[in-house]
Amino acid sequence: MQNIRPVTDSVIWVGASDRRLALFENMFPVPDGVSYNSYVILDEKVAILDTADSSVTAQYLENVAAALGDRQPDYLIVNHMEPDHCANIEELCRRYPGMKLVGNSKTFGLMAQFYDFPMEERMITVKERDILDLGHHKLTFVMAPMVHWPEAMMTYDTTEKILFSADAFGSFGALDGVLFSDEHLDFKALHGEMRRYYSNIVGKYGMQVQAVLKKASALDIAVICPLHGAVWRKDLGWLLDLYQKWSTYAPEEQTVAIFYGSMYGNTASVADLLAAKLVAGGARGVTVRDVSKTDVSYLVSDVFRASTLVFAAPTYNNGLYPKMANFIEDLAALNVQNRRCALIENGSWAPQSGKIMAGKLAEMKDMELLAEPFTLRSAMKESQMEALDKLAKAILATL
Ligand code: FEO
Repeated sequence: MQNIRPVTDSVIWVGASDRRLALFENMFPVPDGVSYNSYVILDEKVAILDTADSSVTAQYLENVAAALGDRQPDYLIVNHMEPDHCANIEELCRRYPGMKLVGNSKTFGLMAQFYDFPMEERMITVKERDILDLGHHKLTFVMAPMVHWPEAMMTYDTTEKILFSADAFGSFGALDGVLFSDEHLDFKALHGEMRRYYSNIVGKYGMQVQAVLKKASALDIAVICPLHGAVWRKDLGWLLDLYQKWSTYAPEEQTVAIFYGSMYGNTASVADLLAAKLVAGGARGVTVRDVSKTDVSYLVSDVFRASTLVFAAPTYNNGLYPKMANFIEDLAALNVQNRRCALIENGSWAPQSGKIMAGKLAEMKDMELLAEPFTLRSAMKESQMEALDKLAKAILATL
């Protein structure tokens, strides 16, 4: 059954949610599902903006047909060629023979890589600030390279002041009947999954996001329609402020995120003790995560939130505990920078993990080590309490 909703009188959301998917990109857990958003603009000319993932094709095509009624689409605007949005291009072309494909030069390069159907006759190549005139709606294009693929672009409806923002401003989570973020009891409930989405999917490309935010600041935006998650027509200042922080790698909060790997509980015990000392010392919002248990995408999200990070890990095979090694390598790959850091190492006969973690962090930008690694030999001793207090004080001084 069709399930469509108006964004405005002439812009219709035709997307769908998927709650069966376990791992987005076959990597990131999506326990609350994910939505794939697509939009139809009904005007003298009719445009569809992006398509949807193959997992929701049946619902998506029904929605598009319902939104179109007896109209035929003139254009399919392809803002992003990642398969979670482009999977239905060929099927739409089959159904709507007169429909033109609108993209930039990179869009069509990728389209030819993913698809074999004849597309040359349909292609309309646009560039920055070109206008596509639908009648009442005049659309223009904002290139957004590497947010987060090279061909990514945004479409701005100058008439209704709507920014179709591709992956930017998106979130994990199925829509649960909600279309607009302000239909949640508290729109900030979206915050955690938005950050996890941003930090893991787009986090590496802060500089490119900054470039797009600069261009967006020149636009009068009333509504943001992303390709995942809720549509934003309120609280845009809050949303843009978050993107400003995340894309400059500025912490959201002055607080501490502690990450530990622990085989038998001794390193975990010290991580918990340190957390208790920090909270007793006045820190708020402290998190403690087991890197072996919590999926790395949540750990990455914690890092984008907190100003000060503690990494605690055993030595393993004369190297770094693999789960911690993987986590820190992921942070480096995502260009994480500008954090204060403390290290706790454990090694029963030859502690190495502190030195290795320090080396990895030194290769990242502006990751300041607050002290020499706090060393455990198997388990913490009462005689080390003073040294741990000193570490807690050094961390508290950063907040
Ligand atoms: Fe939602 Fe970059 O695809």
